[in-house]
Amino acid sequence: MKFQKVLNELEQSGAQNDRIQTDKSKKYLNITRDTGEFFTVLVKATKAKNILELGTSNGYSTLWLASALPENGTVTTIERSEQKAKEAKANFERTNLLERIQLLIGNASDLLNDLKGEFDIIFLDADRSAYISFIPHILRLLKSGGIMICDNAFSHEEELKEFMEFFINRSEYTTCLVPVGKGEFIACKGKLPC
Ligand SMILES: C[S@@+](CC[C@H](N)C(=O)[O-])C[C@H]1O[C@@H](n2cnc3c(N)ncnc32)[C@H](O)[C@@H]1O
Repeated sequence: MKFQKVLNELEQSGAQNDRIQTDKSKKYLNITRDTGEFFTVLVKATKAKNILELGTSNGYSTLWLASALPENGTVTTIERSEQKAKEAKANFERTNLLERIQLLIGNASDLLNDLKGEFDIIFLDADRSAYISFIPHILRLLKSGGIMICDNAFSHEEELKEFMEFFINRSEYTTCLVPVGKGEFIACKGKLPC
């Protein structure tokens, strides 16, 4: 099925589920469409090939990221809920993007320890209270010139303050806040010339 058709369906079913679902762990909490469009531009403009995503949910944001990659690019995405991972896999199978996606099921806090390589983009959209503990992994796994994107920078600004300030205060990172969707905090690994 065409990727845009799957996205449209996920937007409708996601909004409906999140409206009526009272158990937060069962909500999909997808990025907004304009965030997906912004990611498409970022992935293409940076010529990213390897992306790491923390927090797959039903795979909506993963599909946006994967769609912007070249054919030999990969999104590695981590989801701890087996049910959501199952739904994400089924959604990936409905598109022609399955080959570009590696879905890891488990807690990012555990899986990150074994993750090797370098990523052009790391996208954080998981359990915000764990982000501080993810920092050593982000520093290790993000390639020089790569970008880290953190969702919810406006919607949960206070919760993310310490995490964002860590990167704002690191001289080897250049940061900005982008007013799209729920707010995207971006940290680019690379010094500004001064
Ligand atoms: C906001 S949703 C992700 C939405 C998704 N990025 C999208 O826009 O389509 C957060 C997801 O992260 C998962 N999650 C939260 N903490 C996690 C962790 N420590 N390890 C792996 N997955 C986690 C949750 O189960 C949930 O499905």
